[in-house]
Amino acid sequence: MLAQIIEKPNFRDAFLVAILLTTLVYAVGRRVFAQTSLPPGVARFDRTDAGWISFASLRSITDFKISMKQGHEKYSKLDKPFICPHFLDGPLVILPPSALSDVLRQPEQTLSAQKVQDAMTETEYTTGDLRFEHAGIHQGLVRQRLTAPGVVSLVPAMADEIRLALAEDWGEDSSSWHDVNLLESVMRVVARTTNRMIAGEALCRDAHFLDICRRYTEILLGIAALIKLFPLWTRHLVAPLLTYPIRRLVRGAYKSTKPVILARLALNEQTKSDDIPNDYLQWLIDEAKRRNDPWELRPETMSRRIVLLNFVAIHSSTMTATNALLDLLSDRTSKAELDSLQQECAREYANAGECWTGDAVQRLVKLDSAVKESLRLRPLSMRGVERL
Ligand code: HEM
Repeated sequence: MLAQIIEKPNFRDAFLVAILLTTLVYAVGRRVFAQTSLPPGVARFDRTDAGWISFASLRSITDFKISMKQGHEKYSKLDKPFICPHFLDGPLVILPPSALSDVLRQPEQTLSAQKVQDAMTETEYTTGDLRFEHAGIHQGLVRQRLTAPGVVSLVPAMADEIRLALAEDWGEDSSSWHDVNLLESVMRVVARTTNRMIAGEALCRDAHFLDICRRYTEILLGIAALIKLFPLWTRHLVAPLLTYPIRRLVRGAYKSTKPVILARLALNEQTKSDDIPNDYLQWLIDEAKRRNDPWELRPETMSRRIVLLNFVAIHSSTMTATNALLDLLSDRTSKAELDSLQQECAREYANAGECWTGDAVQRLVKLDSAVKESLRLRPLSMRGVERL
């Protein structure tokens, strides 16, 4: 494009390039020269910084992981906090692990998890309506219904979906070898299983819908990061342009979700409560009715909530499952340890009557501890639990 502009100057393109360059210069300048109020007495982990110029902020684009590891060795291990620079989010105060329980005890008004979500995904611009995040609907439903014991009743359907998805992806012939792209394959299995829990069989086997959810998950944080580069007062102007791909995906998803949601709303009008499925879509409908909120009962709102839940569920579960599989199959795990995990699974599966039930899954204590250990070694985020 630049070559084109130089060869054949065009006012519109030149204007766009000028805006982009100005924004870039502003974004970099703001992060290099900005002063941020930081707690006094906490060590700054920026090795070569002089005074008010924070080159460490720029370096964090490539060095963040290294700085976090070094800060951990130098401060966290001595139970001390430190400040780590971050290009997009500004300096982060990293507390030692001993402070975690205190942080988690603080009320939302003091240390907010919601503000972290808003900052990470630029909620206001990427969802276009703060009610999607601030109504507390998915947080409440996930905490009440998707943690034990609420999730127990969903296990047979989810186990069924995992079996079908794995058979399709990995095949059922255990006598010969074939290659599998583990990350992509686990993502497909996770997406199917998650959506089985969200709205049942129709949606979870809709390849077009699953692909949209995958793409939504992949682009959302990138677009949020781009928005963060712009000064606050310009975001309302640039966000509609930058978030166009998100809106396109949301419209695409609605083509798949609309018939499913309308069918469920109709079922709710006709049927006795025993015949109604127990899944996330149903919980959304029940919650919207409980709140007597017509906006929440709109099929478009429910569709967007389904896509948002996919966003939080797919990446986290895919990374956790892929890392756990790689850890278990690496040479750090002995044959005896693997055998012991397999025996535990075989025993509980047999005890439950050759099927997976919620109770059987809850008795997989060794497997649970293996996955937790893998998560401990390879956390989803270098930054741990965050609050603002
Ligand atoms: C192994 C998989 C998963 C991991 C490791 C994981 C991890 C996390 C973490 C660390 C947080 C932030 C908690 C906080 O700051 O207090 C979070 C929040 C959240 N996760 Fe997950 N997650 C996983 C799977 C899921 C799934 C499957 C769903 C939904 C189906 C989900 C829905 C949510 C929601 C809605 C929130 C925000 C809730 C709130 O504010 O309390 N997650 N998750």
